[in-house]
Amino acid sequence: MVGAEETRAGQDRVRSLLAQMTLREKAGQMTQVTIHTVCDPAMGPQDAARLDPERLRRAVVDFGVGSILNVAGRPLNPAEWRALVTEIQEMATGETRLGIPIVYGLDAVHGSGYTRGGTLFPHNLNLAASWREDLVREAARITAEELAECGVPWNFAPVLDVGRQPLWSRFFETFGEDVHLAKRLGVAAVEGHLAVDGIAACGKHFLGYSAPATGRDRTTAWIPENRLRDVFLPPFRAAIEAGVQTLMVNSGDINGVPVHASRELLTDLLRGELGFEGVVVSDWEDVIKLHTIHRVAETPREAVRLAVMAGVDMSMTPYDLDFVDQICELVESGDLPESRIDEAALRVLALKESLGLFERPLPSASPGPKRERIALSLEAAAAGLVLLENRENTLPLTEDSAAGRDPSSLRLAVVGPGCDSPTVLSGSWSQTWQGDDATAFPDDAATIARVASEYFDTTPQAEEADAILLCLAERPSVEKPGDIDSLTLDGEQQSLGRALTGLGKPVIAVLLFDRPRILGDWIDACAAVIWAGRPGPEGARAIVETLLGHRGPSGRLPFTYPRHPGELVSYSHRWTDRLGRNYGLEKDYRFDGLNPRWPFCAGRSYAEGMVVALEVEVAGQRVTGSVTVRNPGANAIRMVVPIFVRDHYASVAPPVERLGAFVSTELEPGEERRVDFEVDPESMGFHDDDGFRIEPGAFSARVFDKVQEFTLLPL
Ligand code: GLC
Repeated sequence: MVGAEETRAGQDRVRSLLAQMTLREKAGQMTQVTIHTVCDPAMGPQDAARLDPERLRRAVVDFGVGSILNVAGRPLNPAEWRALVTEIQEMATGETRLGIPIVYGLDAVHGSGYTRGGTLFPHNLNLAASWREDLVREAARITAEELAECGVPWNFAPVLDVGRQPLWSRFFETFGEDVHLAKRLGVAAVEGHLAVDGIAACGKHFLGYSAPATGRDRTTAWIPENRLRDVFLPPFRAAIEAGVQTLMVNSGDINGVPVHASRELLTDLLRGELGFEGVVVSDWEDVIKLHTIHRVAETPREAVRLAVMAGVDMSMTPYDLDFVDQICELVESGDLPESRIDEAALRVLALKESLGLFERPLPSASPGPKRERIALSLEAAAAGLVLLENRENTLPLTEDSAAGRDPSSLRLAVVGPGCDSPTVLSGSWSQTWQGDDATAFPDDAATIARVASEYFDTTPQAEEADAILLCLAERPSVEKPGDIDSLTLDGEQQSLGRALTGLGKPVIAVLLFDRPRILGDWIDACAAVIWAGRPGPEGARAIVETLLGHRGPSGRLPFTYPRHPGELVSYSHRWTDRLGRNYGLEKDYRFDGLNPRWPFCAGRSYAEGMVVALEVEVAGQRVTGSVTVRNPGANAIRMVVPIFVRDHYASVAPPVERLGAFVSTELEPGEERRVDFEVDPESMGFHDDDGFRIEPGAFSARVFDKVQEFTLLPL
């Protein structure tokens, strides 16, 4: 991190530079194009990116664009990335009047998805299932180091959207449905990026992108302001407080107002209230979409004016350069104040200054040994697996388990669409945008079938096997291509599940989905069920090592897994959501109206830890406490302990409970440990027109079956 003196010097430098810039040069800094725009148009998808000097010169010199993003053709290795960015920077610094370097951005949202030989990690939903801030932070740090090794200083990550719409194609990119968990993991991801010099993170997608009413990407979200502030804003505020340097805007609209045109959100809230000073970049083509899609701008020129006046500093434009001319024309005609252009361009220059790009147009780093990075990916993959069912202790598959024999002689039929493809493990943003192209992976890429064959006799068909590993999968997809008409798992996989569970053998189901696809009741006939989500390329090994008991599962669902298509209700619902069909006619209301397949925080292990005690202390509105946990078993375990908080009565109908804190700790055999926690104030209060408040009254904290009542007194 730079010192205050250096920061002031840097700020002076960029202000001085801005004062020398023409309007056109400033407009150029606000423009971001995709690498395709400056590459050889004859390039194919399997080619390494090949710059077209004339197209590059038009963008970088004639139009002076400030940023380039994305990958064109196949993923590049670090040396190829460095060569590509070097060629761009040499033109930007050597052939432009002021020699301002560009800032290159990539989507490394779960590791280096566009770097050949890069390290991929589990997607955010899996990281959330691990409840491990340390793993999130380290995965982000490694990702940032690998980007620096490639000479790429800007990562369009972390996703900070809270996953409240399981139909949404990007549910897997979120840290799940809970606000507190998303806050803490989002901050850990930002911290991981900030640990590497010359790298900027990008919190996305500000704001309210993850709750489209229809579940379809980039569509209307009906979010009243109190819900926006209670649920979707906290992770962004926490990331800003943690120092995230840039934010990307939500492509959709909230209550009919496209966020790219919302001055209320992008300026009044983000700048005025949250004090964010970094760069706000649009999402893909979202300025022009104010005209072409949202229809809130009658012309492309008006779309530019609306977005820039709302607070967009940089337009991911990404194929055309008109944005530069439109900015100039709007200013020269008096429809855009040049002061706003100065403000946006200064933020872009300040970002480049903070990244050291003026002195060193490419960041650099030497990531640690590859085997250590892969080991972390494997640890994260294993930590994010959730053992949802384990009937009759079917797992682990060892001599003394239901399988009853040495694994090497255990005939394990490995079947299902997820068993022999690397794509279902890594999901989107892996080698390719959608991540569904198996040819983009090495021929020897790990698959569940391949790794299982190292330990089990996987030659038999299901009929002859001792046990069946059923790998259910959703084809990787993201954004609009990932829109679905139903959360229900396709009939073919449902039929396969029914047929296999009808064979009278232990069926172990592994769920490799982007979102909680709804299963039939046949799943209840499975001996074991593991949520694997998108565990990354080490996921196959993590799954097999878990089946073998080499690793004990400790993950917990960071979302509610619905049983029925019409029951997409978050765990932090209200009492009215829970009321049974009896209208509560009995004396004591029966709040049994919700029956998810697996609840938020569901998760088993091979050796359960115990919660021995729960203590809560109140000081004013600060609530702290401790949980004492014990490992009664003979093996080390990890325990993830969620602490839920209930506000018994409030002037706004209170959620039944919310996650107020969590602890995640390892315990040696026989070890007992007391772990302190502090309850997140935002889990005890709510926003309304008067702002945020926690009302005095009766509360309780709950850890599994232990409950502690407490009272908050008026301040
Ligand atoms: C995409 C995504 C965004 C990504 C950007 C650049 O449309 O919405 O998450 O960072 O474009 O690839």
